[in-house]
Amino acid sequence: PQTSTWKVWTEEDVARTLPKRDGNVHKGTYGTGLLVAGSDDMPGSAALAAIGAMRMGIGKLSVFTESGAKNVIAALVPEATYIQRDFSKKIGDLGQKFAGIAIGPGIEPNEAFEAFIAAAFQEPLPVVLDAGALSKRTYPKRTAPVIVTPHPGEFSRMIDIPSKTIAADRIRLASAYAREQGVVVVLKGQYTVIAFPDGSGIVNPTGNGSLAKGGSGDTLTGMLLANICTHDNIKEAVANAVYIHGACADLWIRENGAATLTAHDFSQLLPRVMHKLE
Ligand code: APR
Ligand code: MG
Repeated sequence: PQTSTWKVWTEEDVARTLPKRDGNVHKGTYGTGLLVAGSDDMPGSAALAAIGAMRMGIGKLSVFTESGAKNVIAALVPEATYIQRDFSKKIGDLGQKFAGIAIGPGIEPNEAFEAFIAAAFQEPLPVVLDAGALSKRTYPKRTAPVIVTPHPGEFSRMIDIPSKTIAADRIRLASAYAREQGVVVVLKGQYTVIAFPDGSGIVNPTGNGSLAKGGSGDTLTGMLLANICTHDNIKEAVANAVYIHGACADLWIRENGAATLTAHDFSQLLPRVMHKLE
């Protein structure tokens, strides 16, 4: 990629681009997000994504999930509402208008799920795909952005290249995929790489090894959902979510042992990090 269109995202960039929350606003200003996540076996992933979305500033959140997962999420995120999951439902038929949709944490892929994802692409909404929603596929041309959020293992499955090769060439491979498929690639790990379809990109400087624990990726997915609903600019939306996610971990290790961070701690970390950035 043209390195001139790549940059390291900074605290000043976040402070400059974060939507202001003052004045004449109401919950509708920030849109309703749809989170398609969690299952009876993996309810926590949806709860963590929901915490990330609410604390990041989404106006309203609806969770499309299985009934067993619903009770777990409701106890942790009473602000969310629910839609009983049935992948044969069309998003357009779900009876609500959404500003964005995030799909995948805590869901095992199957044919009905894949068909649901394909249907989501037909809707004029930004779509975030993570975890179970990441597979080897091609993406249709659409106006609203698609954001894929693989860790190196998931990206390896998506592009059929060994993780080791990916690790040595993260920017080039993420950028090639973003340009070829027309999607935003968030290639996670230390110094997360964000590649855009136009060849530009961002390297994120925040975050640390305390994030290397199940659940932290699910939280990021929720934060991304919030930001695509609250930002006008998709590049800034993605970069700010990734930066702030890492900044929470950086705040954590200033005061706590690095091994001890859990994803639900983001509930307390996000208010503090946002206070500094807003
Ligand atoms: N430095 C900075 N950030 C890091 C580091 C690090 N050393 N290690 C991890 N992270 C960040 C990543 O950038 C990403 O944002 O933590 C997050 C981890 O996300 P995932 O890898 O998606 O982890 P998560 O989904 O929460 O849990 C792992 O995913 O693939 C499944 O089966 C797998 O159960 C496992 C689960
Ligand atoms: Mg993950």
